[in-house]
Amino acid sequence: MNYRHAFHAGNFADCAKHALVVALLRGLLAKDKPFAVLDTHAGTGGYDLSAPEPQRTGEWRDGIGRVAASDDPVLADYLAQVRAEGFPGRYPGSPALIHRLLRPGDRLMLCELHPEDAATLKARFRGDPQVAVHRRDAWEALTALTPFPERRGLVLIDPPFEQDGEFERLAASLAVLRHRFRAAVVAAWYPVKHRAPVRAFHAALREAEVADCLACELTLREPTDPTRLNGCGLLVANAPFGFELEARRILDALLARLSRGEDGEAATVTRVTVER
Ligand SMILES: C[S@@+](CC[C@H](N)C(=O)[O-])C[C@H]1O[C@@H](n2cnc3c(N)ncnc32)[C@H](O)[C@@H]1O
Repeated sequence: MNYRHAFHAGNFADCAKHALVVALLRGLLAKDKPFAVLDTHAGTGGYDLSAPEPQRTGEWRDGIGRVAASDDPVLADYLAQVRAEGFPGRYPGSPALIHRLLRPGDRLMLCELHPEDAATLKARFRGDPQVAVHRRDAWEALTALTPFPERRGLVLIDPPFEQDGEFERLAASLAVLRHRFRAAVVAAWYPVKHRAPVRAFHAALREAEVADCLACELTLREPTDPTRLNGCGLLVANAPFGFELEARRILDALLARLSRGEDGEAATVTRVTVER
């Protein structure tokens, strides 16, 4: 396991993923009934932007460093959470962002396999009765920890994509999850380096008949160089009412801050599969 999220915290892909996750949680919070969240690839929970790793890549400067200046109301909720977690000194990981929005009856399950990052995550939430931290494999946890007794909630799948076959594994897990836990809102992050793997991923979802999927994608340049993160996507299954339109507005507002005027930049929300 070579991937460490500290190098990438707060980059443009984190901004897109986290702004959309905040919107998904608001959808779940619209009903009084308690829910749970499973964050399968959690990282450390929050990041010091002055630490050597983020300073070395500087990725956050071209991500949250630009997005934070937005005054678009559609980003206000996300940016308020980021600031409340210590930005500009710190940038929250998905566990910190999700944790902020939980009500007393809601629950958060976090999985992280890297020994050091799992230890940091455990220390962060030690003694918090709403949060369970597992040092366990995400893919195994997806079946072990679902469906939730609450019968509602969010499953966030955010793999590092450092191994071959991650798209295939993601599509297979989404298919399994839709049979095990139909009611879950599922959000799965993926890179857009070039088009072919993304097309194959969407085709695999159609083939597996995973219903009701939206692909929310932010692309900063033509995705033709497979060595660069040219864009990113969040595949959302079973999105709450109103999310599709909000996702479009969020991605447009992000692109307005992140654009470098390159050919091929785009903010899109497309239906990959339909309700059966
Ligand atoms: C992209 S990062 C997660 C970032 C985090 N979700 C956030 O938004 O702040 C992916 C994380 O998954 C962890 N990881 C990689 N393979 C895993 C596996 N099989 N099971 C659980 N965690 C894994 C890595 O150590 C890394 O911390």
